[in-house]
Amino acid sequence: MKDYNYYIDIAKYIENKTKYRPKIAIVLGSALGSFTEEIKDVETVDYAEIPNFLDATVDSHEGKLIFGKLNGIDVLCMSGRFHYYEGYSFEELSLPARVLSVLGIEKLILTNAAGAINDKFKPGDIVAITDHLNMVGGSPMRGANLEELGPRFFDITDMYSKELLEKAKITARKIDIELKEGVYAFAVGPNFETPAEIRAFKVLGGDVVGMSTITEALTAAHVGIQVLCFSFISNMAAGITGDAITVEEVGETGIFAVEKLKLLLRKIVQII
Ligand code: HPA
Repeated sequence: MKDYNYYIDIAKYIENKTKYRPKIAIVLGSALGSFTEEIKDVETVDYAEIPNFLDATVDSHEGKLIFGKLNGIDVLCMSGRFHYYEGYSFEELSLPARVLSVLGIEKLILTNAAGAINDKFKPGDIVAITDHLNMVGGSPMRGANLEELGPRFFDITDMYSKELLEKAKITARKIDIELKEGVYAFAVGPNFETPAEIRAFKVLGGDVVGMSTITEALTAAHVGIQVLCFSFISNMAAGITGDAITVEEVGETGIFAVEKLKLLLRKIVQII
């Protein structure tokens, strides 16, 4: 079982590699890697060189911590994230957000690619996540609790911060980006879902579906980091159009959506 010092040691290693001490971190979802071009005066740390960090195994995820300035604001960008389908347990997936917390991060912006369950959404849309459904996974906080990080039992009613969401909505309006809102249904992957699963998620209140994000959001909630989350819609979820879902469309729509997200994030980091 990992103790608090385990996370402190990882954070110390990272701190020794950079002069930056950002309060805001951004996790980049599949196909959003090019977002890092927006970050200036960068200092990078490869995941692979950080002792006891996790390894990114998915091609579309780069595997780097990128420190720098986004529109003048210090940020830490995780280019490459970790997923349950890669073989990590829910508990292991608590590591990145715990390290972010020890590094002093107070606000975490999560991004991801997702399939649209809600038929009012279309590929290319940006959806601000208001809540999630975790029907099949466990909790990243399972196991002995580390009191230094957070309490054994913790409230997640405002896990996707209403305060940050309001700010995101105001920002989106100002720059004329249509921001939808919805509930993220977590699916374990790596297979896309069955049409029956998507129909079930719909009945339960899911608007979008994806294979990431919730472990980071739950861990952030445990350590008291505020979360803002954006999904970009890469495809309609299984069974909605009847077409097969391809990895290519996830990538292609991402390239288009990243432009909108770049604009949004540049403005948001200035007001949160
Ligand atoms: N399902 C799960 N994850 C996804 C999807 C999907 O349809 N699209 C992008 N990520």
